[in-house]
Amino acid sequence: MSVHSSIFWHNESDTEAFAKTLVASNDLSNAIVELRGDLGAGKTTLTRYLLQALGVTGRIKSPTYAIVETYTGHDAAGKPLAISHFDFYRFNDPEEWEDAGFRDIFAAAGLKIVEWADKAHPLLPPAQFVISIEMLADESRRASVQIC
Ligand SMILES: Nc1ncnc2c1ncn2[C@@H]1O[C@H](COP(=O)(O)OP(=O)(O)OP(=O)(O)O)[C@@H](O)[C@H]1O
Ligand SMILES: [Mg+2]
Repeated sequence: MSVHSSIFWHNESDTEAFAKTLVASNDLSNAIVELRGDLGAGKTTLTRYLLQALGVTGRIKSPTYAIVETYTGHDAAGKPLAISHFDFYRFNDPEEWEDAGFRDIFAAAGLKIVEWADKAHPLLPPAQFVISIEMLADESRRASVQIC
């Protein structure tokens, strides 16, 4: 079964509020969250607000070159939560899946947030949450949320 809903973000404050709600109302501690959308849609921006809502402080940079950045946040019970933020835009060597330890990260506990998941197909396990972001003409965003 999957649940769909569609929402508007007029600005980044709306994105931030959405991130807080998603974190407060779902157990993400073992989830894969896939973020879809064109270049510049707002995937990394949403990731920053998700990480902040999970208690990550400090600089959160886009993993476009490193492919993954890892963080420690905390879950609803206050326990440490491993979070990995992937951007597979430049991923093109399947051997790197093993060599860089990506397989291990997906096999372990923790939250995985993934941009450009289609570039890691078919290595990537299926996501539990798929959030698609579309930029509209006035620069607001339409987001659709699918809970798989
Ligand atoms: N809800 C929003 N309202 C207005 N501007 C936004 C919103 N979300 C993101 N932006 C702006 O859009 C720009 C691109 O955002 P971001 O880097 O998050 O995109 P992305 O989807 O991660 O792109 P890429 O595919 O290149 O990684 C940034 O300047 C950001 O501030
Ligand atoms: Mg990005």
